[in-house]
Amino acid sequence: MSSVLVYGSYGFVGSLVARETIERDLEVVLAGRDGARVAEQVDDLGRPGRRFALDDPDVVTAALEGAGVDCVLNCAGPFSNTAEPLVEGCVRSGTDYVDITGEIPVIERVREWDQRATEAGVTLVPAAGFSAVPLDCLAAHLSDRLPEATALALGVDSRRPPSIGTVRTAIEGIEDGGAVRREGRLEYVPAAWRTRRIDFGRGTRSAVTVPMGEVSTAHYTTGVPDVAAYAAVPQPARLALRLHRYLAPLLATTPVRAGLKRLAGLVRDGPSSWSRKRATAYLWGEARVEHTDARVVSRLRTPDPYVVTVDAAVTATERLLADGRIEDGFRTPAGAFGSGFVLDLEGVAGFFDESTPESGAPEVDVPS
Ligand SMILES: NC(=O)c1ccc[n+]([C@@H]2O[C@H](COP(=O)([O-])OP(=O)(O)OC[C@H]3O[C@@H](n4cnc5c(N)ncnc54)[C@H](OP(=O)(O)O)[C@@H]3O)[C@@H](O)[C@H]2O)c1
Repeated sequence: MSSVLVYGSYGFVGSLVARETIERDLEVVLAGRDGARVAEQVDDLGRPGRRFALDDPDVVTAALEGAGVDCVLNCAGPFSNTAEPLVEGCVRSGTDYVDITGEIPVIERVREWDQRATEAGVTLVPAAGFSAVPLDCLAAHLSDRLPEATALALGVDSRRPPSIGTVRTAIEGIEDGGAVRREGRLEYVPAAWRTRRIDFGRGTRSAVTVPMGEVSTAHYTTGVPDVAAYAAVPQPARLALRLHRYLAPLLATTPVRAGLKRLAGLVRDGPSSWSRKRATAYLWGEARVEHTDARVVSRLRTPDPYVVTVDAAVTATERLLADGRIEDGFRTPAGAFGSGFVLDLEGVAGFFDESTPESGAPEVDVPS
């Protein structure tokens, strides 16, 4: 029977993922760098565990070989510290790799392992959580509808408070500002660089550009050269994002970053199961051919982002373990499993296609 090692299995998302793998009868090994927490989880869930840190590639490779697993599912973020050591260990030990990063630089670095992974017969699927599965699949669907598209705009409207881990990850990349893709290249731009009024399917809201992982995955999935990702944010948050442009150098200093992380530690663990059951996310995407009227719009509705993250990551892992036809090397979620992957997740509704283009000229981005 195929097996998966969940790294960061005692974190907030990691523990939800670990329980889900057991529910689905996968053979799971629990893992992380804190021996006491791994041991506690082993007692609780009755599954084997492994303690190893990620500083030494030889140790990581030996740990994966010793565990004898077929796939690693990395839930330990910020992934800027954990993805590469685990990818290297996976490539050296012949183990497939899945993670739930939404960090653009991490996806780009995992992609640099494409050739070595292909030579080793290993598949690497980063960003198999809420960011980027739904919008990556929506991008693939839009590209099927308008194959000559030259620009993609993708957006999410979800009023969801983040977990501590997500806050810590945001603090880690705090000086980065924003990012979009233009003519195939990543371009670093100020935070909230553009504002757009978007109808996500429950009324029009203001959204600003954000550096979501889809800026990478949607480009690699579709080959469309221009990609921008938007998030609906209320006015105070838009203001804070704009202030970020001026405060970023200060926020990036070590003492301020450490202070922010301490403050983040005061936040409760993550959204409760009660709130996870009730939340909905609205996703929107537009493909267009620049300088023409050609334009298509589609939408999706999903459960809570944390629910989607757990379902998508475990389903991606199941498919990698079960389906020998998935190509080796770096794969985006839609590249590996097709645009319909998101529709197989519990509670997802779509794709809702606009049969005729929205009337009038497309809404134009305005500088914030
Ligand atoms: N793609 C998506 O849509 C999506 C959705 C939800 C969450 N996420 C991301 O998933 C990550 C985890 O979120 P969370 O809420 O579960 O966070 P969390 O509760 O803080 O858990 C983080 C886990 O990662 C481990 N870890 C962190 N840095 C490590 C390192 N350098 N070496 C080894 N282990 C390390 C932690 O172990 P220690 O306690 O030993 O440090 C812990 O087990 C975050 O980056 C978050 O942004 C993505």
